[in-house]
Amino acid sequence: MAFPQTRMRRLRSSAGLRGLVRETDLRAGALVLPMFVAEELSGAGDAGREPIATMPGVQRLSLQEAVAEAAVAAELGLAAVMLFGIPAEKDEQGSGAWDEEGVVQLATRAIKQARPELLVITDVCLCEYTDHGHCGVLRGDGAVDNDATVSLLARTAVSHARAGADMVAPSDMMDGRVGAIREELDGEGFADTPILAYSAKFASAFYGPFRDAAGSTPSFGDRRAYQMDPANGREAEREALLDLQEGADMVMVKPALAYGDLISAVKRATLLPVAAYNVSGEYAMVKAAAAAGYLDERAAVLEILTSLRRAGADTIVSYHAKDAARWLAEQS
Ligand code: PBG
Repeated sequence: MAFPQTRMRRLRSSAGLRGLVRETDLRAGALVLPMFVAEELSGAGDAGREPIATMPGVQRLSLQEAVAEAAVAAELGLAAVMLFGIPAEKDEQGSGAWDEEGVVQLATRAIKQARPELLVITDVCLCEYTDHGHCGVLRGDGAVDNDATVSLLARTAVSHARAGADMVAPSDMMDGRVGAIREELDGEGFADTPILAYSAKFASAFYGPFRDAAGSTPSFGDRRAYQMDPANGREAEREALLDLQEGADMVMVKPALAYGDLISAVKRATLLPVAAYNVSGEYAMVKAAAAAGYLDERAAVLEILTSLRRAGADTIVSYHAKDAARWLAEQS
């Protein structure tokens, strides 16, 4: 039956009816807040908090402020915080990444001690720790050495687990890293620590503000020899299936906004819980447009996050997480 018997507007005519048939919900418990924890701050900004010019509302945090921020995340009912470390010193290998007293390891311990119920997910990658800014160690010809990098990533993941991380999230895009991390975790007594694999991570312009925040822009070249080509969707499914085979517990699609088709595709292909990373550039666009008065920030953010859930994301990593949790609490 079509019009006039069928009228789609009938079920849209009141808030009650719209609520009754709403297909997707957004809740704080599905949101993860990324945090930048710095070993050393320049002294600009408030004590322990250094503003990031390209990400209004987000700061580099001292250890103490990271604990305070995690407490806010917990109070707001967010699922987890995801930690990115900014070491005081970088080197060729990125050795700060697996330092037992490294910034992420210290922050993980401090947060877990203060807020044992809040999940701590750690980013496992070398790019914030290498002096050249690439996500792994370099060969003589300047290319990233996959297999040498994989063992360093596994070592890093174990050091995070030892510090108390509830989940480790490799974001480097080396081949075979999920399997290597699983094996190393199991061998070191962390068989119960899950892996959230950044399976389909694209070489994206939308990471710009993050690299600013973490000082991780490659000093030469780009990341296209390890991160994925934005033109490829079938390859994203393949990456996710390989990570599943290697033992990933969850898979991620990143960035999120221009990749909703792949959130759906990966969800169908794997049966694993899927996370979407609403990345720094996506955040910055909304913040800039809202600051200019071009759109309503609250409405835009809730629409964006809801659309990622609709695409199939079980979990959303977003710099908007705290604001979204506050807005959701006001609505209910
Ligand atoms: C590290 C990493 C990056 C992001 C998350 N983990 C940067 C990159 O790959 O250059 C980007 C996150 C964001 O833009 O919010 N490999």
